Parts: sequence; C-alpha cells; structure tokens
Amino acid sequence: MSLVSTLQPPLPGTMPDIAVHGLARSQPVHTSNTAIYPAEHSTTFDLYRPAYHFQPTSNWINDPCAPFFDPSTSLYHLFFQWNPYLNDWGNDTLAIAWGHATSANLIDWTFDEQPALAPNEPYDFKGVFTGGFIPSTLPKPGPASDLEPSAPLVLAYTSVKAGGVTFKEPYNLGTETISLAHSYDRGMTWQKYESNPIVDGAPSNNVTGWRDPYISYWPAVDRLLGRSDNSGLYALISGGFRDQGPTTFLYKIDPNDLTSWEYISPLIDIQSNSRSGRWTGDVGKNWECVNRMTLRDPDSELEREFFIISAEGTENINSTSTTETGSNSSMVTRTPRYQLWMAGTLSTTNQTTVTFAPLASGLFDHGNLYAANSFRHPVTGKLLAYGWIQEEDLPDEIRAEQGWSGVISLPREVYLQVHSNVNGHLGGRDLSQVPVFEPVGRTDEVDSYSTMGIKVECDVLHSLQSRAASHASIAEWRPRAHDLNNGAGGGYRRDLALNDTAHFILQSSVRYPANSTSARVGFTIIHDAKQMLFTQISYNPLKQTITVDRSNTVRANATEIERTINRRPELAAHTLLTYDKAGASSVEKLDIVVVSDNSVLELFVNERTVISTRIYVRGTSSVGSISLCADGLGAEDVVFENTEVWSGIQAEMRQKDN
Ligand SMILES: *[C@@H]1O[C@H](CO)[C@@H](O)[C@H](O)[C@H]1NC(C)=O
Ligand SMILES: *[C@@H]1O[C@H](CO)[C@@H](O)[C@H](O)[C@H]1NC(C)=O
Ligand SMILES: *[C@@H]1O[C@H](CO)[C@@H](O)[C@H](O)[C@H]1NC(C)=O
Ligand SMILES: *[C@@H]1O[C@H](CO)[C@@H](O)[C@H](O)[C@H]1NC(C)=O
Ligand SMILES: *[C@@H]1O[C@H](CO)[C@@H](O)[C@H](O)[C@H]1NC(C)=O
Ligand SMILES: *[C@@H]1O[C@H](CO)[C@@H](O)[C@H](O)[C@H]1NC(C)=O
Ligand SMILES: *[C@@H]1O[C@H](CO)[C@@H](O)[C@H](O)[C@H]1NC(C)=O
Ligand SMILES: *[C@@H]1O[C@H](CO)[C@@H](O)[C@H](O)[C@H]1NC(C)=O
Repeated sequence: MSLVSTLQPPLPGTMPDIAVHGLARSQPVHTSNTAIYPAEHSTTFDLYRPAYHFQPTSNWINDPCAPFFDPSTSLYHLFFQWNPYLNDWGNDTLAIAWGHATSANLIDWTFDEQPALAPNEPYDFKGVFTGGFIPSTLPKPGPASDLEPSAPLVLAYTSVKAGGVTFKEPYNLGTETISLAHSYDRGMTWQKYESNPIVDGAPSNNVTGWRDPYISYWPAVDRLLGRSDNSGLYALISGGFRDQGPTTFLYKIDPNDLTSWEYISPLIDIQSNSRSGRWTGDVGKNWECVNRMTLRDPDSELEREFFIISAEGTENINSTSTTETGSNSSMVTRTPRYQLWMAGTLSTTNQTTVTFAPLASGLFDHGNLYAANSFRHPVTGKLLAYGWIQEEDLPDEIRAEQGWSGVISLPREVYLQVHSNVNGHLGGRDLSQVPVFEPVGRTDEVDSYSTMGIKVECDVLHSLQSRAASHASIAEWRPRAHDLNNGAGGGYRRDLALNDTAHFILQSSVRYPANSTSARVGFTIIHDAKQMLFTQISYNPLKQTITVDRSNTVRANATEIERTINRRPELAAHTLLTYDKAGASSVEKLDIVVVSDNSVLELFVNERTVISTRIYVRGTSSVGSISLCADGLGAEDVVFENTEVWSGIQAEMRQKDN
C-alpha cells in the first residue's frame, strides 16, 4: 500500500464542508466488522479528528503500551490497545489487540494497519491487554558496532483467556496471565513466545485485578533486598486486594532468563478510596498501569521515588473532573477513575518484602487522560509518558457515527520540580495543606519543596511550534481602562487574532504583584468569526482553581443528541508559591501552555497541574481569536508576559508500507 496521509479527506466530494453544512444524519453509518478502514466515511469521520496527536485511522483505542526508543534504529515505538474491527473496546467475539506505530521524532507517526499482537491463542483469546517493554533487551547506547542487532527485543503483556477480571466481580484466578512477545527485525514484526504464558496468574484469588506489567531497572530494590546479583530488573503488576485496597505487585526478573519472574510482595498497603481530596483525587479500589521512576534534580541532587497510577473504582465526587458544577444531567457521564501520582520512600522490614510509603501525591492529569505509560529514554535519560485521552464525553450515537474513539496524548516529560526560598502560597502560609508538595529542606523561615514536574517534551514542543503556519505574540499586556470589556461579563480583555483556531499552541506567563491575589486571569479561545462559540480557561487565585469552561461550545441549532455531549467544566486545584529571597517577597508566575488540536486540548500550568479534555465544537472556522482576560480586585496590577500563539500546526500520519 502506498503512503497515505490520513489528514487528507478520503475522496473528493464525499466530505461536506463542515463550516458550511450541518450534521447530515441521513448519511450511511459505517458498521463493517471486517474491513479495518471504513469503506465509506461518515460525515463526522474527520470532524473532530486531531492533526498532530497520534491515533490509528479508525476504531477503538485505549491504553498506550510498551513505549520505547531503539538506539540501533533511532526509532521510537509506541503500541496501543486497539480493536481493529470494532469502534468499541471489544465484545464476546472481537477482543482487544495491540496496534503499533513508529516515529523518528515523536510527532510524525507511521502505523501498521495490521495489529502487532492479536488475541488468537487459547491463553489470550479474550484480549491482549496492556503490557510493557523489557529495557534489558535494548542494545546499550554506544558505538554502532556494540549494538548487537541479532538479539531480540522483548516485551511482556497481559494475556486474558476468560472473563471475570474486573474489580466489580469475583476474580477468576488464572484468567489473567503474563506472556512475552519478541521481535528479530528491530520491532517491525512481533511473535509470541512459544511457551506462553510465563507467569500463570495472580499470587492469590483475593485480588481485584492483576495486569499491565511495567518493567524497569530498580537498583534501589536490589539494595533493600540484599540481592547480590544486582541486575536490578523488576516488574510491577497492578491490581488490588478485594475488600481491602488497591496495590501493585512487585516481581524480580532474571535478565538472563526473561521467563523467570519471582514474586516479592505487594508494594503498598492502602485502604480503598482513601487519601481523597481536591489535590489528590481518590486511590480507588483497583490499580492499573502502575509505572515507577526515580527522579533526580541535577541542581540539588535530590532524588525521589515516584509512581504514576491509574486508579479505578473511585468515589470522591468532590474533586476535580467529576464536580457537578454547571452540570446538565442529560450530558453523558464519565467512568469514575483518576490518573494519580505518588512520591515517597521504600523500606523493608526483613529483606523479603518491600513497602512504599507515600509522602506526597497528586493528579498526573485532572481531566480525561488515563492509563499513562512511560519509559526512560536510553540515550537522553529523559522520562517520557503517554496517556490515553478518552472519547467518553461523546454520546455513543455520535461516537458510533464518527467511527473512531480515543487519542494518544503528546509525550510528556516527567521530572523532579524543586522550589527553594518558599515561605507559603497564595492560599496561605501553610503548605502542609497542599499534599502535592513535599518539604525537602529548611533554612531559617523558608523551605524547599519538591513535586512532580510534567511538561510537553521540549523538543516536541519546539518542533510543533516551528511547523506553525502563523505566529502572533503580545510581549506584555497590562490591563488598562481602554481594555475594559463593556459587554457582558465586564473585566478587561485584549484580543489576538488567530488564523487557525483548530490547531495551535498558546504560551503565556502571568505575573501577580506580591500584594494582590484576587484578580482572576485567563484566556478565551473564540472558535468562530461570530464569537458565539468559545472555551474559557481561567485561574482563580482565591479558590486556587484552574477551570476549563466548555459550556459555550454548543451551536444554537445543535441537535438534541449533540446537546448531550459532556460539556461539564474541568476543574483542577492549583496554587502559586510565594517566595522570600533575602527579604524580598514575590509570587510564582502563572505559566500556561495550551496545546489545542481540534477536539483535543492539553493544558499545562506551571509544569505541574495538567488538564486534558475534549472540546467538541462544531462550526469551527479558520478565523477566530484568543482573548487575554483579567477581572476582579487588582486586575490592573497583573501583567501578561510573553504571550505567543503558533497556529496551523500539522503532522504526518502514515500507514506502513506492507
Ligand atoms: C447551524 O447554524 C450554523 C450557523 O451558526 C449554520 O452554518 C449551519 O448551517 C446550521 N446548521 C443547521 C443544521 O441548520
Ligand atoms: C461483535 O461485534 C461484531 C461487529 O459488530 C458482530 O458481528 C458480532 O456479532 C459481535 N459479537 C457479539 C458476540 O456480540
Ligand atoms: C490474600 O490471600 C493470600 C493467600 O491466601 C493471603 O496470604 C493474604 O493475606 C490475603 N490478603 C488479603 C489482603 O486478604
Ligand atoms: C465535598 O464537598 C462538600 C461540600 O462542599 C463538603 O462538605 C465535603 O466535606 C466534601 N467531601 C470531601 C470528601 O471532600
Ligand atoms: C440540558 O440539555 C438539554 C438537552 O438535552 C437542553 O434542552 C437544556 O437546555 C440543557 N440545560 C442547560 C442548563 O444547559
Ligand atoms: C517480613 O515482613 C513482612 C512485613 O512486616 C511480613 O508480612 C512477612 O511475613 C515477613 N516475612 C518473613 C519471612 O519474616
Ligand atoms: C494570518 O494570515 C495572514 C495571511 O496569511 C497574515 O498576514 C497574518 O499575519 C496572520 N495572522 C496571524 C495572527 O498570524
Ligand atoms: C499593589 O502594589 C502596587 C504597587 O506595587 C499598587 O500600585 C497597587 O495599588 C497595589 N494593589 C493593591 C490591591 O493593594
């Protein structure tokens, strides 16, 4: 097959101009269960499709799996849970498989239209579930002659042979097992290991789940357990104990025999649905996709153990994304789950079990991103994570007509964020009320704190910006009387014209004076020339909340079903630190990065508070604008610095030449 960009409309004349035509519901809806690509695309097929976020052409995806970089080919590999035949997760006859894509730059992807691993063995007939790459099978970075390209690359996955694997039903021991797959052609094709499965089930039947192996080098655990071989290769398998709490199970892998997995112990003892609150979410009843990483700050040499956790069965309806503010009960609801992180320490009492105790925790994403999976880049050492940005805000009728579900996030770099000279935060002096920060040192009246830093991988961000068709900026904006927005809402406003409202990146920093903390600031993305459709991103320092208000993204003439798209606001707890350096006080700047890619929006605030969401706005035109906004007491004292917009960003998504 020739290289075809999925960004092109399928055939001239089959796609109505979306800016002109409305939803033509009489168009045939594709329902084929054999062709991977719909023979006829529905009118909605590309309406909400992103341009530079990865996804296959059609059907359902969920978790990103086993990401890795192969230094011998300089290619990134990304797998993902994919049902190539169904725009749903699966049914009794068509179970989930693994799709596969490669990229040289993490932006332009080539994906294989055939699944890399299909559910076609007795032990994985009900699904090839999520898994991880085994990093010991990569060639060591170094001279090309040392790359040993004859050794296979190996990954581990969850093989599922029957039902009974959700936390809501009694666990069926042995239905989830661990299997291996290897590649002798640098990851282009994958074969299952002949003696699968290699781990025949959970350690006991009182679990809520047992899946999603994540494999990494973890020398700290070798030291705790007093292991002399010191290879440091360990796996985490996620799950929980029924009627007790979620956990992750620790296994030691023999690097010379990858089929040898020795169970060590559950890693954490925590009560179901505990540790809830607006800063941290809720730990849920069962964990999935637990990843771990040691993060180190090169300046302070501080090092911390971190986990990224996908928690299901959550209950805390108060916190962030499930908040009902402004809700419309007819809107579709989300599955209760959170994407968490935790930082803390490891210990052992008798060198036979290892226990993790969290000291700080937060949400890796406050919106609808789930199932994050990560890897350490073997050359740069960067820790990169992807997540699944879900499609569940769309009603099933529209999702079915659209013909695809789910998107993979941009790669995020995770790092240890350290702040010195901290004497408090906008919410008060006492930072112990804000569990996302861990105190890590004290001198006189000021402290140092650490937290998880999360940002778009910087080479990817810069490369996307350099592809923009147009660029606009405002070096500095201080709200003044002539900026008063005398229309509804009041406040101050300054507009920035935008040529492509569907694909842009916005960056800005807002400086608060040390004496003023009540001004609300934000950005309004205006999607259409008539200024009827808009999304508002705002920060309220008194409430310490970031909000993405999606309520004004529905056309006046929207259909009944379009009105049920979930447009509930996204809320994230966020505070700004205050500093005291040699007697001079200051407030941390509010740093904003908005990545907007048609229906996908990823918002990064101070590289630690992240919201992924979907904006299903119909009637997006190429012309629109972004308004810088400020209101409330002290609005004239805030300064918007270095506001820049890069718009018209595209990427190439190609099908593999088979
Ligand atoms: C809905 O209104 C928009 C203008 O806001 C118009 O372009 C479109 O054709 C209308 N759609 C329908 C189905 O009436
Ligand atoms: C699964 O979905 C396919 C495609 O829609 C359908 O043909 C098949 O009958 C379904 N199987 C079951 C058991 O529902
Ligand atoms: C689960 O079952 C195992 C084996 O029967 C037992 O050792 C363990 O204590 C149980 N754990 C919990 C939390 O019930
Ligand atoms: C939820 O919010 C209500 C009202 O704001 C408050 O009384 C309650 O304590 C909150 N619950 C939790 C678990 O945070
Ligand atoms: C809620 O949605 C229904 C359509 O399902 C609509 O008629 C109603 O106006 C909406 N209410 C609000 C407050 O948005
Ligand atoms: C080691 O300590 C753990 C935790 O205190 C305990 O559960 C386990 O039974 C102990 N194992 C042995 C062999 O003493
Ligand atoms: C939009 O495009 C026009 C012409 O292509 C250009 O002159 C203008 O500067 C662009 N505007 C922005 C905000 O980039
Ligand atoms: C804050 O301080 C500035 C001078 O730095 C002053 O102009 C402004 O009025 C003060 N604002 C408030 C709300 O006190």
